Amino acid sequence: MPTIDIKDMLQHAYQNGYAVGAFDLVSLEFLEGIMEAAERCRSPVILSLAESHFEHYNFELLATAAETAAQQSTVPVAIFLDHGTGLDSAIRAINGGCNGVMVDASHHALPDNIALTRQVVEMAHSCGVPVEGELGYVPGVEGEDAERHPGKICYTTVEEAREYLRQTGVDFLAVSIGTVHGRMKGQPELDIERLEEINRALRIPLVIHGGTGLSDAQFRKLVSNGVAKINYYTALSDAAAQQILVNSRTGATKGYTQLTKGTIDAVRAEAERCMRLWGSAGQAEAVLQSCRPWQMIEHLIIYNVSGIDDQQAGQMAAEGRRILSQIPGVRHVLTGEAVKQDAKYRFCWLIRFVHERVIESYRDHPEHLRFADQVFRPVAGDRISIDYKLVH
Ligand code: 13P
Repeated sequence: MPTIDIKDMLQHAYQNGYAVGAFDLVSLEFLEGIMEAAERCRSPVILSLAESHFEHYNFELLATAAETAAQQSTVPVAIFLDHGTGLDSAIRAINGGCNGVMVDASHHALPDNIALTRQVVEMAHSCGVPVEGELGYVPGVEGEDAERHPGKICYTTVEEAREYLRQTGVDFLAVSIGTVHGRMKGQPELDIERLEEINRALRIPLVIHGGTGLSDAQFRKLVSNGVAKINYYTALSDAAAQQILVNSRTGATKGYTQLTKGTIDAVRAEAERCMRLWGSAGQAEAVLQSCRPWQMIEHLIIYNVSGIDDQQAGQMAAEGRRILSQIPGVRHVLTGEAVKQDAKYRFCWLIRFVHERVIESYRDHPEHLRFADQVFRPVAGDRISIDYKLVH
C-alpha cells in the first residue's frame, strides 16, 4: 500500500469528524506497535519523527523503516516530521521520506514565526509536501514530567491565527488551548471556546500537541471542534517503559530481548485505545478510496559521453550524486553503467522525486541548472530522458 497524501487524509478526518493519531516513534518496537494498532482497528495513522528525538536514533534509518512499514501495510499511512526547527530540517525530512512536515517556530515572536514558516511552506509546497505550523506556545517536553518544564502556555488568538494562515499558507495549524507536552499531574483546563472560534475562522484541519493525559471527554470535544490530528507520545513511552520495569523485576536473565519483551504489545494497546477513542478506527477503507496515494516519480536519463573518458564520466556521476541529492524533493540519486560495453547507451541516472511537483522545482533549481548546463549537458548530447510514475 502506498503512503497517502496527508493533506487528503487530514481533510477526510476534518470533514468526517474524527482525528488521526500522530504517534512519535523512537524505535522499531514503537513502529511495530503503532502499525499493529492501525491494522487491528483499520485506522489511518501518522508515523511521526520528532527532531527533538534525533539524538536517540538515526533519522534516515528510522524514516526508511517507517516507509517500508507503510509499503507493507494495508491501512493508509503518512510519515511526518514533528517539531522541525527550520528549512534545513524540513529538506532533510522530505528527502529522507517524510510526506508532511511541521515547522515549529512558535517560541519566536510572531513576525519571525511567520517568516520562518513561510520559507518552509514555499520549499515544501514546491515538493508537493503539506506543512503544519504552530501558533501560540505549548510548553513541556515529550516523555518527561510536565512540571519539570513549566514554561508559560501562550494561547493562540483568533486574530493572529487568521493573519498567520494568510501570510504563511500552512495546510494545518497546531493551536495552543491549554495542553502541555509530557506527563501531567491532573488534567489541564482546555479553552474549547477558543478552539471553536479558531475553527470557525480558519476552516482548516487543526492539530493538538501534548495529547497525553487528556480525558476521553476532552478528546471528544477537541475532535468535534476541528481537531483532525492529535500528537501523542508520552503515554506510549510510559507504557513501554512500564513493561521494561516489570521485565527487569521478573526476568530470569536480563538480556536486551528479555528486557524489551512485550513493549510492542504495550505500545500497540495504548495506540489502539486512542484510535478507537478519536474515531479513526474503521476509517481506513474510506481514506484509501477517497485520498490520493503518495507517489514517487522516477527521472531516468540514459546517455553516452563524448570528449571525456570513463574515469572522468565516473567523477561526473559522483559529483552529480553529491549535488543533486541536496535539492529539495530528491529522495535518491543513483548512477549506473551498462553491463555490456557495446550497449547502445553506456550510462544512466535514476533520480527519485518524492512527488510529481518536483519535476518542475528540480528542473529550475539553481544547483541543478549549474550542474546540468556546465558539467553534464556539454558532454552528454546523446541522451534520452523520461519522468515516469510506477504503475502497480
Ligand atoms: P505528549 O508526549 O504529551 O503526548 O505530546 C506529544 C506531542 O505533542 C508530540 O508533538
